[in-house]
Amino acid sequence: GPGLAWLKVFCGYEKSKPLPSFHFTPNLTCSYVLHMLVLMGPCTWIWPYLSIFADSLYALSGTRKHLERITSVGPRPVGSRENEVLTVNFLLEQIEHIKTISASGPNSVTVDVQRPTGSYKFLGGITSYCKVSNIAVRLEPKAGAQHLMLANCHFDTVANSPGASDDAVSCAVMLEVLHSLANLSTPLRHGVVFLFNGAEETMQQASHGFITQHPWAKQVRAFINLEAVGVGGKELVFQTGPENPWLIQAYKHAAKHPFASVVGQEIFQRRLIPSDTDFRIYRDFGNIPGIDLAFIENGFIYHTKYDTPDRILTDSIQRAGDNILAVLKHLVMSEELADSSEYRHGNTVFFDLLGMVVVAYPAHVGTIINYITAIATFLYLFKKCFHPSNMGKGSQEHILIFYLFICLLVIMCLPFSDLPLYGFSPAVNVTQGSSMPLLTPLTLCVCLFLLQGVRHLEVGELYFDVSLLLWCGALVYFTAHSLCSAYVPMLMVAFPLATKLLLAREFKLRGASVKYSVLYQLGLALPYVHFMSLIWLVFEIFTPTLGRINTYPPDVVLATIVTFTTLFFSSFFLHFIYLARSTKWLLAGLGTVFTVLLLLVSCGMFFPYTADPSGPRPKRVSIQHTTRIVHGLDGQVESRDSGLWINSCDYTGMQHITPIIPEINDTIKTNCQEDRPFCGFPWFGSDKNNWYLPAPEVFPKSPVEFQLLSKEETKWGTVRLTFEVKGPSHMSLYLMPHRGASLSSWWFGDGTPQLYLAREYFIFYTHGLDAPAWNFWFQIQPPNEEGPEGMISVAISSHYYFGEDQRTVQLDDMLQRFPKWAFPSSWVSTYHMYRY
Ligand SMILES: *[C@@H]1O[C@H](CO)[C@@H](O)[C@H](O)[C@H]1NC(C)=O
Ligand SMILES: *[C@@H]1O[C@H](CO)[C@@H](O)[C@H](O)[C@H]1NC(C)=O
Repeated sequence: GPGLAWLKVFCGYEKSKPLPSFHFTPNLTCSYVLHMLVLMGPCTWIWPYLSIFADSLYALSGTRKHLERITSVGPRPVGSRENEVLTVNFLLEQIEHIKTISASGPNSVTVDVQRPTGSYKFLGGITSYCKVSNIAVRLEPKAGAQHLMLANCHFDTVANSPGASDDAVSCAVMLEVLHSLANLSTPLRHGVVFLFNGAEETMQQASHGFITQHPWAKQVRAFINLEAVGVGGKELVFQTGPENPWLIQAYKHAAKHPFASVVGQEIFQRRLIPSDTDFRIYRDFGNIPGIDLAFIENGFIYHTKYDTPDRILTDSIQRAGDNILAVLKHLVMSEELADSSEYRHGNTVFFDLLGMVVVAYPAHVGTIINYITAIATFLYLFKKCFHPSNMGKGSQEHILIFYLFICLLVIMCLPFSDLPLYGFSPAVNVTQGSSMPLLTPLTLCVCLFLLQGVRHLEVGELYFDVSLLLWCGALVYFTAHSLCSAYVPMLMVAFPLATKLLLAREFKLRGASVKYSVLYQLGLALPYVHFMSLIWLVFEIFTPTLGRINTYPPDVVLATIVTFTTLFFSSFFLHFIYLARSTKWLLAGLGTVFTVLLLLVSCGMFFPYTADPSGPRPKRVSIQHTTRIVHGLDGQVESRDSGLWINSCDYTGMQHITPIIPEINDTIKTNCQEDRPFCGFPWFGSDKNNWYLPAPEVFPKSPVEFQLLSKEETKWGTVRLTFEVKGPSHMSLYLMPHRGASLSSWWFGDGTPQLYLAREYFIFYTHGLDAPAWNFWFQIQPPNEEGPEGMISVAISSHYYFGEDQRTVQLDDMLQRFPKWAFPSSWVSTYHMYRY
């Protein structure tokens, strides 16, 4: 900021003149309020809802009934009867019904239940599965089809969540879409596979099983995936591709209520949101392009017990149904599907404008547009620079100080926003995003205050130009890094610049007349409205996500976003200050808002969590009643303990829980046990948010049976260990070779061991019903001198996510004591460690 301002000051601007007398002097307040509220405000996200009942092709009531039936059985973790039997049977029944009523039509329906077994790498670990469930429904013209579209949803859930939004509603919508398409009186051009997959919450195993093993998978050319990272609201296209611009073109032409932005895609693919979807599996293992749609609103209750069907608005269902039906129909009839490799080129820049139209153009076209815009801006600024310069000294210093303060403010905001966190009160207010109302007036206040004395026309110009230059810098940077999101700074440069140039004559003739300021606002409306909707998206997605991240303080993240947002929004409007008669009132107003909010936040007025049924924001905690047994080299039990292992999913840890449940305090905080695989706990327990409260041992009805079947030396000097494991549907295996030893090969994935942490290997295993015992082996290169600890530590953990084994008396007692505003997700687990 200051650097650029300096440069521009040296480049020089015309000597300051006294303020000309204007015909009309709009107040800054007017300008700002007009723009922020009237122009940019609500229309961005109200619009898409207006056209909802336009032309629904499918029976809405059907979808809601399906949704209620699917969720009525409760949570559906993989391996539970609810998931593998009840839901599968319900879906098969419905599909049979559709098959019967459409039998006389020109299209045929084929159903196949697949129970695949396999293993693959994910994010550094390995996941292995056995007999998970897939229901694949193939709809094609009676003459058969060569090329298939794939529509994917999943019906399994995480433990303890009814999973209405994630993802039963998508399966319900898909059933109705299947109904509509099967019921068409014209034959389809290509076929569609509707995949109802029953194991997504377990590292997307079912979709992997389908795409790598199902005979129909080879004919699949593209897919649509329906997911949720929130509950209800609009479904956002947040990923497409890779490449294959024809997919987004299809969405553009067909979707009735488009909602899409490449910004979402770039954020998601940089893994800033801790989630993953089947999209990745189809892309990486099937090499198939697709569209990923997700419900994003109200992420506070995603994966909690509050994810119930009554919280999903009928509007949301209708929207999703209309869109998916239209896009699928378009794709199934399209030319491109038959030979998609023909149409494979480059990334696409895409975004919707007010939910009305999708703008989509190839990334290389975008690059050209961006550079042209940047060059035009530089030419404009360059020309100005070479104007004879003798601007008043005072003004230059002022601008410099202004930008220095902005920088200071940004830096200051970070610890400042943490103040309620560490200082006055324990309220974090993350989940309420309270830093937003707090920081926005503060930022504006400082800006206004600093601008008080500067009321020269040229200084106003200079502010405009510096804003332009800053945005242009962002534009060049984004474009140079091949980010499609560069279209945002492009809009924020192109529109203001064009407006300014077009209005230059008007301004010269008549100054800031009413006409001028109205036209100026109109000129900036489009990029601002769009930018506002993106910012809304960022808050809608990030604020709840911070309740699931315990590594960095949420207020810091929000404060940063808020500060930058305010600055970005103000950029092209700050210079209006030179038109204002007085900013006293505005300053006083903003100052008051800030002070009042600061006081309120500091006295802990805003508690971050609530159980209010109309908008719950629960604190997420996970509690496992666990028993840990460590075996020595000779197989004897070395140590044995049990307890409630408590994890906080957000940054506040147990600070709000301790006053209510005094046993959960810092005396029982545990640290990583470095000599045990995965710190000695049955999950990724390596961070600092662990509490372990002693409790009696657990005795699940189906205990883990872990058996070393054989230990052989191979001719290459390695030792091959073969195991057999029987146990519940969810188990994890951790391998930690001791110093000097290393794994040379194993049964999993492609056979090459892959480290998960610095020294550890992690295998995530899930099985459906009637799965045989889990057999696997690995080969280890023993160390030159074997220590007293042996070559390797092997730990197996089991997780009882459902049924009788999920609960214990102690767990139930503990759950009862948790406050209403917390959502403790609980289950029983075990951890057995062996040394060899
Ligand atoms: C579509 O389904 C309805 C029943 O849901 C049925 O009455 C109608 O005849 C079907 N139309 C076709 C073309 O199969
Ligand atoms: C802290 O927790 C321990 C163990 O749960 C308990 O014995 C102790 O009384 C607790 N401390 C307070 C101050 O409540």
